[in-house]
Amino acid sequence: MQENIKEILLTKEQIAAGVARLGKEITADYQGKVPLLVAVLKGAVVFLSDLIRAIEIPVRFDFMAVSSYGPSTQTTGQVQILKDLGQSIEGQHVIVVEDIIDTGLTLRYILENLSSRKPASLKICTFLDKPSRREVDLKPDYNGYDIPDEFVVGYGLDFAEQYRNLPYIGVLKPEKYK
Ligand code: IMP
Ligand code: MG
Repeated sequence: MQENIKEILLTKEQIAAGVARLGKEITADYQGKVPLLVAVLKGAVVFLSDLIRAIEIPVRFDFMAVSSYGPSTQTTGQVQILKDLGQSIEGQHVIVVEDIIDTGLTLRYILENLSSRKPASLKICTFLDKPSRREVDLKPDYNGYDIPDEFVVGYGLDFAEQYRNLPYIGVLKPEKYK
């Protein structure tokens, strides 16, 4: 285990089981459709790459980047689109793929923005959810795991751009960011 990690919350095996379950749910729900998965850079990239291989129907994917915390661990609520989709989503079945929903402020902004572009449907798939931290009324349609209110890293999630490549979800030692 990495020295700055206090505890492992989800092992590689638990991650794989969660992704497999989500892949099955999406496969069942989108029969006969070709959903467009919109992953939010950069954290959701690792999850997206596993998720698409757990879905057994044709899918397409694209990326969006929004501004987030910077080097801090608290959300500001000020969201800005840094990179937009490469295509129109009008009439498409869109699934927004997120690494984690914390306050929900980032995702609320993304959903409002995307719904104004008239997709045929718009759903949320997150790998992790911290429901106790929610500041806006928002529930994921697909959720890997609920986790407690702790700052986690790994499996795409970062602290100051580090730790994204850890193969597990770990709790960062609080002295690393306090
Ligand atoms: P929200 O707007 O507060 O829901 O924040 C969502 C974004 O904050 C996520 O996409 C992550 O990039 C980041 N984030 C929230 N909680 C954590 C965490 O525990 N570890 C790493 N990044 C996090
Ligand atoms: Mg981040």
